[in-house]
Amino acid sequence: MKYGYFDDASREYVITNPKTPVKWINYIGTLAFGGFVDHTGGALLCKGDPSYNRITRYIAQLPSSEFKGETLYVRLKEDTGYKVFSPFFVPTLDKHDRFECRVGLGYSRIISEYYGVRAEVTIFVPPDDGVEIRDIVITNISKTPRSIDIIPVVEYSHFDALKQFTNADWVPQTMQSVCVDDGGGRKILLQYAFMKRDTAVNYFTSNAAVSSFETSRPVFLGDNEYGRWGRPLSLEKDELSNYEARRGDNIGALMHHCEKVQPNACVRIITMLGQEAGIDGIKEKTARYCDPKNVENAFDQLRKFWDGYLSRLSVATPDKDMNRMLNIYNPRQCYITFNWSRYLSLYQLGYGNRELGYRDSSQDVMGVMDRIADKGRELIIKLLQVQKANGSAMHQFNPLTMKGGEGDSLERPDMPHYYSDDHLWTVLAVGSYIKETGNIAFLHETVPYYEKGPSGKPIEQGTVWDHMLRALEFTRKDRGAHGLPRLGFADWNDSVNLKIGAESLFTACLYGKALLEVIECARSMNDLSAIKTYADYYAEMKLAFNEHAWDGAWYVRYFDHDGSPLGSHRNTHGKIYINSQSWSVISGFATPQRAISALESVHTMLNTSKGIKLSMPGFNGFDPSKGGITTYPPGAKENGGIFLHTNPWVMIAEAMVGNGDRAYEYYRQINPAAKNDIIDEFECEPYVYPQNILGDEHPQFGLARNSWLSGTSSWAYQAATQSILGIAPTYRGLRIDPCIPSEWKEYRVKRVFRNSTYSIHISNPLHKSKGAVALEVDGIKIEGNMVPAFANGKDHKVEAVIQ
Ligand code: GLC
Repeated sequence: MKYGYFDDASREYVITNPKTPVKWINYIGTLAFGGFVDHTGGALLCKGDPSYNRITRYIAQLPSSEFKGETLYVRLKEDTGYKVFSPFFVPTLDKHDRFECRVGLGYSRIISEYYGVRAEVTIFVPPDDGVEIRDIVITNISKTPRSIDIIPVVEYSHFDALKQFTNADWVPQTMQSVCVDDGGGRKILLQYAFMKRDTAVNYFTSNAAVSSFETSRPVFLGDNEYGRWGRPLSLEKDELSNYEARRGDNIGALMHHCEKVQPNACVRIITMLGQEAGIDGIKEKTARYCDPKNVENAFDQLRKFWDGYLSRLSVATPDKDMNRMLNIYNPRQCYITFNWSRYLSLYQLGYGNRELGYRDSSQDVMGVMDRIADKGRELIIKLLQVQKANGSAMHQFNPLTMKGGEGDSLERPDMPHYYSDDHLWTVLAVGSYIKETGNIAFLHETVPYYEKGPSGKPIEQGTVWDHMLRALEFTRKDRGAHGLPRLGFADWNDSVNLKIGAESLFTACLYGKALLEVIECARSMNDLSAIKTYADYYAEMKLAFNEHAWDGAWYVRYFDHDGSPLGSHRNTHGKIYINSQSWSVISGFATPQRAISALESVHTMLNTSKGIKLSMPGFNGFDPSKGGITTYPPGAKENGGIFLHTNPWVMIAEAMVGNGDRAYEYYRQINPAAKNDIIDEFECEPYVYPQNILGDEHPQFGLARNSWLSGTSSWAYQAATQSILGIAPTYRGLRIDPCIPSEWKEYRVKRVFRNSTYSIHISNPLHKSKGAVALEVDGIKIEGNMVPAFANGKDHKVEAVIQ
């Protein structure tokens, strides 16, 4: 069964069957104001903080047929009475003659036809302006004049998202709604929790005259709430009750009567939903968007933003699904993960203290570096501000208050409250910023460490370089019995939580990779003593790694507190883990033979047709001594599931050993755009990477979950553009080093790099995966594979032939 198709010309995915297996969503706005909208028009909106400043009530766990956050009713006056339906399908569930949800870049547009009426609703947040716009156009496509009522509805959440569900006395006692006349028959519905009356007021209004309104859910649904969203009893009456609720479940509903709409004529109504400190700010905003021209301009600005963002890198390869992902959907997802980290999605509900993950954001930022490096730099500085003076980092932080947290580790008082990998990821993020921009001076900027004195001011600060070195020193000092980094509460794999004293082979490799990055930086600064020091550190860890971690055909993943291995042929469960294989290669620790053997073991033991599993076999029973991993049944998530974030690392490693066919096979088998025809198995959106797919030990092998907010996005993008297509920014220029499927004859990449645009054509006449490249830049032969950073604002032609 297919639920939609890709419309590449308009850069939209078009959902044509509203009954998708789960809701498919799209993001609008940013963390400053925004959230997501689902394909049936429901919306979860927040201003600044999903946990503490939520606007709409979107309960993800309710069945898909339920109303969530916002909807729209259309009511037609017929001889027999009123006919009420929703152009969004939910909540009235009528069988439309046509349904389309066009999932666009920063907007969704729902187009539907039913009962001789066409609705076209464009939902977006203007760039840099915190208000949700719904541009509603209703056309009479029947042959007779119609009386059409348009009733948009929003349901509010208490600003404290979790309190909404934990306190059914205080919350309803505080919820307030007031109606303000805006002239010309327009009404602005204000809504706030009492304590926010003078500081944070939600509003819902439109640019057209309304004849009545409703603010109380029980009154709107009717019959003491035995009326339903699918058939609200108040819509059986001519007018809504004009009731201003001073407690309870607050909604906003506006009744617009459009009398005698002629055949082919349309009515256009623009609704606005947002939050300001008070009525003056609200009126300023609504006055702006009452004018459809300003709405159109704002939509144009949105388009321009995405045009600019996407224009910085584009590809034309023989694989149309790869082109689609790299030209549109993957960079879009990278922008979303950069913005939202793991804060708010259908799966990450933003109710508590998740906020921005330190390791997550450090990786997400690398996925947008080639497009918005300046914004990337701002996020890196924030990350460095939550690094502690001892070099380790807070596990997560709130980007508004900059308050850090220790994450899930706090649930286990008996365990360490740091993660052994967090701080090392930022070293890679800094490296990625410098390679993209060439701005080595960034290393000398000062940034405070996390700890604050009694006045709330940071106690200590250091240069970015100092931050990087402290990260390395923390890991170097925090080593266990084998001279390998201790695990802390966990490493990248949050769910393996071993007793104090356990060591992590993954962190050993990440430390190795971070050392390589620091050595490169030191080289750029010509700091010979730093080069020597960190090269020694590197050699020392490489030795320990190879001495202890080799298991015969792959590298083990952990040593437990008593020295016993996990990820070894000696284990019954968790014999082999993916990350110690890929990262042994990425870090350069694996010897050439071991690299091949480790990657071969991944292929034979972990690969499936739907992606590579994280480990095998899965644990089968809860075992607190192993941690969270054993809370999952075998085949789910980290316990033997296909945890996609890890797959691009294997692609990178395969490319490093020259195996382009396999790197590409791994890329192709997880490309969501290629899943469009098997959605009933996959279930999630085919236009983004999910975080996980159930593995082959699970009866629902192939089922995806946790779409959108996953590190898969950044890494799949990096693996595809830098390792497979081989266009990689380096400290010294743009390196052309492809590792492609041998059957490819040629491909093109257009890329902006340090203020020059490079049109790169790569040909592969000998059908190789990898080889020395013969390079010509603007018709002039160049030795080696490095295209210079001209930084001259000009266009340059690059011809590369794989030999
Ligand atoms: C989730 C977390 C990420 C972690 C991964 C594996 O994606 O956000 O930080 O690395 O799970 O446990």
